[in-house]
This record gives sequence, C-alpha cells and structure tokens, in this order.
Amino acid sequence: MSFTHASIEKNVGLLALLVVLVVSVGGLVEIVPLFFQKYTTEPVEGLKPYTALQLEGRDIYIREGCNNCHSQMIRPFRAETERYGHYSVAGEFVYDHPFLWGSKRTGPDLARVGGRYSDDWHRIHLNNPRDVVPESNMPAFPWLTRAVLTGADTEAKLKAMKTLGVPYTEEDLRNARASVAGKTEQEALIAYLQDLGTTIKSVR
Ligand code: HEC
Repeated sequence: MSFTHASIEKNVGLLALLVVLVVSVGGLVEIVPLFFQKYTTEPVEGLKPYTALQLEGRDIYIREGCNNCHSQMIRPFRAETERYGHYSVAGEFVYDHPFLWGSKRTGPDLARVGGRYSDDWHRIHLNNPRDVVPESNMPAFPWLTRAVLTGADTEAKLKAMKTLGVPYTEEDLRNARASVAGKTEQEALIAYLQDLGTTIKSVR
C-alpha cells in the first residue's frame, strides 16, 4: 500500500490513528515536561502541610460541595490578579490531595481568601451569607456550628497524606486527634479557609 493522501483518507483506521498521533503532539509537548520540572513538582518556599484542624476543614469543604461553586485557581490574567491577588502557581498545591482548582465559579475564586476576612466575618457568612452580603445566593451552612469533631479519623487522614508525600512528622500524627477533638466543624472549615493561598504574599 502506498502511503498517499488518498490511501490515508480511504482507510478509516489509519486516518484515526494518524489523527490521534497528530492531536497528541500538542498535549504531550505541553503536559509531559510538567512532570519533570522542579517548579511544578516541588513546594513553593515556605509551604507548610495543613494542620490537622485545617485538613479536617478541607474535608468538610469537599463534603459540603463548596468546590462546586468556588474554584481555587487564579489565572495569570490582569483581571484575575487585580481581583484575587498573585496568580496561582503549581508549587502551592503539592500537598493538596486531591487538588481543588476547578473552573466553575458561581462564587468567587477562593485560592487566596486566607486572611482576607476575619474569623468572625466567616462565622456570620457561613451561618447566613445574606447577613454580610445581602445579594448573596450562597447557601447557609448553620449546622457546622453544631457538629463537633471527635478526631477519631484524624490521625489516619494525616497518615494517608503522608503516604502521598506530605511531610507530617511523628509528632503531628500523635497530636492529630487531640488538636481537633471538641472543635466544631465550622472552626475547622474557617481554619482551612484562613490558610488558603497565604504562602505567597498577595500583591494587592
Ligand atoms: C451555590 C453556590 C455556592 C456554594 C455551594 C458555596 N458558595 Fe461560597 N459563595 C457563593 C457566592 C455566589 C458568593 C459571593 C457572595 C457572597 O460573598 O456570599 C460566595 C462567597 C464566598 C466567600 C467569600 C469570598 C470572597 O472573596 O468574598 C467564601 C469565603 C465562601 N463563599 C466560602 C464557601 C464555603 C466554605 C462553602 C462550603 C461550605 C461555600 N462557599 C459554598 C456561592 C456558593
């Protein structure tokens, strides 16, 4: 079989194979190097693993579906950096398993919400967003003030993260349960929110 234009067009299998090959090149060239580049695989300077309480808060964030309305990834565009602060870089997320970048933004991006508001603001906002942002359509999460953490699974959660490369120490594991037991789910969630994006100082 001669390898002519006509013979490729008339052979669906061959055409499909070649299309896949050609289309893959763009993806491979962009994606494969990322696995080997230091700036995508190593933590940014000063990045700390989530504390036990923050990690519990992160699980509550996922459980309540906050990530369905909020992304955690500031794109490198002027409109975004003016609003949210420094664009997100890969090294900020190496301890996030799974990462929560997302692209769906019913509400604002939260990648650098840490430190933007007081804990009190978050309490009021989570109990009823309308009390601080009258036009808000974010749902209220009042039960988080009533649900109390026992810490029963916290050490196991840290251990699981450790197997994925998060550098928790033996001491972190030992103290995990005690550091969350008795705290409310809302406290844990706020501890997590207040940590978001704080490793890189926002230039706002
Ligand atoms: C149905 C979509 C939706 C869900 C689910 C949702 N939010 Fe929101 N969120 C919004 C909208 C819209 C706003 C903007 C109005 C406001 O501030 O309330 C917002 C604002 C926020 C803000 C303020 C951000 C800023 O920069 O001003 C925080 C913090 C926040 N949400 C946290 C959460 C957390 C934590 C959860 C899960 C417990 C959550 N949201 C769930 C829609 C949502």
